[in-house]
Amino acid sequence: MRSAVCPGSFDPVTNGHLDIVGRASRLYDRVVVAVLVNKTKSGLFTVEERIAMLEAVTSEYPNVRVDSFHGLLVDYCRDHDIPVVVKGLRAISDFDYELQMAQMNFGLASVETVFLTTNPLYSFLSSSLVKEVATYGGDVSGLVPRHVLERLSARLAEGR
Ligand code: PNS
Repeated sequence: MRSAVCPGSFDPVTNGHLDIVGRASRLYDRVVVAVLVNKTKSGLFTVEERIAMLEAVTSEYPNVRVDSFHGLLVDYCRDHDIPVVVKGLRAISDFDYELQMAQMNFGLASVETVFLTTNPLYSFLSSSLVKEVATYGGDVSGLVPRHVLERLSARLAEGR
């Protein structure tokens, strides 16, 4: 049984994340999408809301489940017997930090990191940019799943 984890903040999940998760689900028998619980950083969505959105948009993948974690990713991997982290690499600007994290995670616990090259359609895409563009009325309908778009519009409307 080959297992992998796709970790992240997912505030909210974008089409770029979903592309990586879908591709990981074809490479591994079991994929866990793990949402980081970061007590020092509040997001637009709560962890529970992010999980609910991830569950909705990954429901077509029977071997994908969604969870949350706090603390070190390698501890989550050890506790759940997951030897591989799957990440998307959008551009060379991602590489420096991703390489550091991958080497740290391998050094700490021999957890491997597999990088998938982001679909060029989404190479400019990030949750932060989606939130910024949507906040000022820009069209993000091609960048997030429809379910997320609805939740995003509703959340931003609450703040207006
Ligand atoms: O979506 P993000 O915010 O880019 O995801 C970053 C994430 C959650 C993958 C990374 O910050 C992480 O793994 N955090 C958990 C804490 C940890 O293990 N830190 C050491 C990394 S070497």
